[in-house]
Amino acid sequence: MDVQSQPTQAPPAANKAATAKLALENVSMVFEGNGSSFTALAPVNLDVSANRFISLIGPSGCGKSTIFNIVAGLQPPTTGRILIDGVDVTGMIGQVGYMLQKDLLLPWRTILDNVCLGMEIQGVPIAQARDRAAPLLRQYGLGGFEKMHPSALSGGMRQRAALLRTLLIDMDVVLLDEPFGALDAQTKAQMQEWLLQLFHDFGRTVIFVTHDVEEAVFLSDEIYVMASRPGRVIEHMPVDIPRPRDRSIVSTPRFVAMKKYCLDLLHMSSSPDDSAGLAA
Ligand SMILES: Nc1ncnc2c1ncn2[C@@H]1O[C@H](COP(=O)(O)OP(=O)(O)OP(=O)(O)O)[C@@H](O)[C@H]1O
Ligand SMILES: [Mg+2]
Repeated sequence: MDVQSQPTQAPPAANKAATAKLALENVSMVFEGNGSSFTALAPVNLDVSANRFISLIGPSGCGKSTIFNIVAGLQPPTTGRILIDGVDVTGMIGQVGYMLQKDLLLPWRTILDNVCLGMEIQGVPIAQARDRAAPLLRQYGLGGFEKMHPSALSGGMRQRAALLRTLLIDMDVVLLDEPFGALDAQTKAQMQEWLLQLFHDFGRTVIFVTHDVEEAVFLSDEIYVMASRPGRVIEHMPVDIPRPRDRSIVSTPRFVAMKKYCLDLLHMSSSPDDSAGLAA
């Protein structure tokens, strides 16, 4: 879809959903409580092909984390299905790697053992998990920190460890909920390039949530733009900028136009209070 086209989201064709790596079919979420109900998500349809990097952007409260919780099987949807490789996995845990919005390393574990945690939970013996993780810590900028505890590391390093922990769980689909939200601009830029390298090396299908539109365009193959009240998808946009990408692309007319298009959509669809926190 061209960035100039109107916001629209067609329901997926049945055969497309069947061949997608990950598909959400009419997934909605209504929370009930205190005699009232709240529609957090109107029916959402997503089709994600294998080895793509997809971003979800949208104002606070539009249901991004709710989508992740449903895909991860932690929250049953009110309606709809989650398909991975065409198989219905709705409500099933252990089908995707998931780095939660408030992802924490365990303070009493070393960095190496924190990175091994996901593998251990999957049943990999700790010695084997350490053998697998140790070279990756060295390769991805955490060499020399293996025996330290999280409190001794910078915010960026802790996020690297948390991301490696998520990627070492052997899952094709990886959900990353605002992994760089709390980092300063310079660290964030370094982490984005580091993540692109990891994405290239690990070959996973990544769904990434961010409030930072520039980050979404820089990293993604496709962007889903969401609006709130109720949470819904208002645009699905390909980012047809070739890889590998480096920072110089952010000033190209194509990049600037895509970023502006996303920001305009977000501002058009947001009330003044929920557009707060969206970063250009
Ligand atoms: N368990 C719950 N019970 C009731 N309402 C909930 C529950 N979980 C989420 N919500 C509501 O659903 C809406 C979507 O929440 P969600 O956390 O998915 O938003 P988000 O897009 O991830 O926001 P943010 O960008 O701030 O992380 C919000 O209005 C939230 O208050
Ligand atoms: Mg969230």
